[in-house]
Amino acid sequence: MGRAMQLPGDNPDLVAHPKMTFHHGAYTYEVDTRNGQSQYIVSDGTHTLSLPILWAMGAQAQTWVVEHHGQMYESLVSYYPTLNGLYLTVGDDTMAPKTIEEAIGRPLSEEDAKTCFGCHSTNAIADHKLDLSTLKPGLTCEHCHTGAMEHLKSAIKGDHSDDPPSLADLSTEDISNFCGRCHRSWELVVRAGWKGPSNVRFQPYRLANSKCFNGADPRISCIACHDPHQKVVRDVTDYDSKCLACHSPTLEAATPTSPHARSCPVAKANCTSCHMPKVPFPGGHFVFTDHEIRVVRPNEPYPN
Ligand code: HEC
Ligand code: HEC
Ligand code: HEC
Ligand code: HEC
Ligand code: HEC
Ligand code: HEC
Repeated sequence: MGRAMQLPGDNPDLVAHPKMTFHHGAYTYEVDTRNGQSQYIVSDGTHTLSLPILWAMGAQAQTWVVEHHGQMYESLVSYYPTLNGLYLTVGDDTMAPKTIEEAIGRPLSEEDAKTCFGCHSTNAIADHKLDLSTLKPGLTCEHCHTGAMEHLKSAIKGDHSDDPPSLADLSTEDISNFCGRCHRSWELVVRAGWKGPSNVRFQPYRLANSKCFNGADPRISCIACHDPHQKVVRDVTDYDSKCLACHSPTLEAATPTSPHARSCPVAKANCTSCHMPKVPFPGGHFVFTDHEIRVVRPNEPYPN
C-alpha cells in the first residue's frame, strides 16, 4: 500500500505514457509528462487550461488532484492500466460539463479533500485539518502503527511504558473495522445503503456477510489471509490452507464459537477460484474479488 498515493516525479505509469489523449463531449484532455512534471490539460477548442498534477491517487488506476484558482479538483479523467490510457473517472460517467471549469472534474470540498488525503496518504491531517506540508505520499508505518515513531524513540532509551498495543492482538471484528477505516466497514456500508456490484470493493462488508465469518475467530481475519506489509498474493493455491484451517474433514474443528465447517464435495484445491468470484467493477475497468465466500450458483443475482 506504499503506492496508495504518489507525487508526480516518481510516477512510472506517467513516465511510461508521456502523452495521453482523451475526448469527452466538447472537451479534449491531455496528460503530458516531461522532465519529471505532468500537466493535466483541458481544452474546449478555444480555451485551454494547463494544470500541474499535484497528487496521484491509486496504485492500479490513477486519479489526479489538481488545483485551479485555489480550488482543488478530482480529475474527470483517470489513467487505467487495462486500457493503457485515459477514461472517465469511476462514478463520473454521467457528468456532462458545461464550462471548462466543470470539465476539470469534481471540485473537492474541504471535507472531501481531508478524507481523500486521509485514506491515500500519511500525516495529511493535523488538528483535524488538512495540512499538506506534513503529508507523506502513500501509507507509511505511522498510518497504521499510531505513535510508532514516538515509541521507537523511547524504546531506544529502554523505556517500553508507551508501547502501542500490538495490532496482532486485535479480534477479527476489530481488524475488520481497523482495515475498514479505509476499505469501508460493514456498518458504514449498511448505513449508507450501498447496494449492487459496486459494493464488492468493500471487503469488510462482503466478508461479514458470508457464513464463514465469525468476529471472534482469528482464522477468518483480514490478516489471516493478507500481510498488510506485502502486495496482495495473486496465486490461488496460496489461500487453500486458509480455507482448510476450518474446512477440513480431518480437523477437530468444532470449537464452541465455530461449528464444524463441512468439506467440499467438489474439489480439494483452488478453493477461492470457485467460492470467491471476481466481479467486474461497474465502469471501472478492473475487477475485485468477492469476499462474500459462498457456493456460487449459475445465473444467481449478485447477493447484497
Ligand atoms: C489508511 C488507509 C488504509 C488502511 C487502514 C488499510 N488500507 Fe489497505 N489499502 C489502502 C489503499 C488506499 C489501497 C489502494 C492503493 C494501493 O494498492 O496501494 C489499499 C490496498 C490494499 C490491498 C491491495 C494491495 C495490492 O497489492 O493490490 C490489500 C490486500 C489491502 N489494502 C489490505 C489491507 C488490510 C488487510 C488492512 C488492515 C490490516 C488494510 N488494508 C488497511 C488504504 C488502507
Ligand atoms: C475512506 C477512505 C478513502 C477515501 C476517502 C478515498 N479513497 Fe480512494 N481508495 C481507498 C481504498 C481502500 C482503495 C483501494 C481499494 C479500492 O479500490 O477500493 C482506493 C482506491 C482508489 C483508486 C484506484 C484503484 C486502486 O485500487 O488503486 C483511486 C484512483 C482512488 N482511490 C482515488 C481517490 C481519490 C482521488 C479520492 C479523493 C477525492 C479518494 N480515492 C478517496 C480508500 C479511500
Ligand atoms: C495498512 C496498515 C499497516 C501498515 C501501513 C503497516 N503495518 Fe505493520 N502491522 C499491521 C498489522 C495489522 C499488524 C499485525 C498483524 C501482523 O503481524 O501482520 C502489523 C504488525 C507489525 C509488526 C509486528 C509487531 C506487531 O505489532 O504485531 C511490525 C514489526 C510492523 N507491523 C512494522 C511495520 C513497519 C516497519 C511498517 C512500515 C514500513 C508497517 N508495519 C506498516 C498493519 C500495518
Ligand atoms: C479467507 C481469505 C481472505 C480473507 C479472510 C480476506 N481476504 Fe482479501 N483477498 C483474498 C483473496 C483470495 C483475494 C484475491 C487474490 C487474487 O487475486 O488471487 C483477496 C484480495 C483482496 C484485495 C485486493 C483487491 C481485490 O478485490 O482483489 C483487498 C484490498 C483485500 N483482499 C482486502 C481484504 C480485507 C480488508 C479483508 C478483511 C475484511 C480481507 N481482504 C479478508 C482472501 C481473503
Ligand atoms: C473461521 C473458519 C472458516 C474459514 C477460515 C473459512 N470458512 Fe467457509 N465456512 C465456515 C463455516 C462455520 C461455515 C458454515 C457451516 C458450513 O457450511 O460448513 C462456512 C461455509 C462455507 C461455504 C458454504 C456457504 C454456503 O453458501 O452455503 C463455503 C462454500 C465455504 N465456507 C468456503 C470457504 C472457502 C473457499 C474458504 C477460504 C477462502 C473458507 N470457507 C474459509 C467457516 C470458515
Ligand atoms: C471447481 C469449483 C470448486 C472448487 C475448486 C472448490 N469448490 Fe467447494 N463447492 C463447489 C460447488 C459447485 C459446491 C456446491 C456443491 C453442491 O451443493 O452440490 C461446493 C460446496 C462447498 C461447500 C459446502 C458444502 C456443503 O455440504 O454444503 C464448502 C464448505 C466448500 N465447497 C468448500 C470448499 C473448499 C474449502 C475448497 C478448497 C479446498 C473448495 N470448496 C473448492 C465448487 C468448488
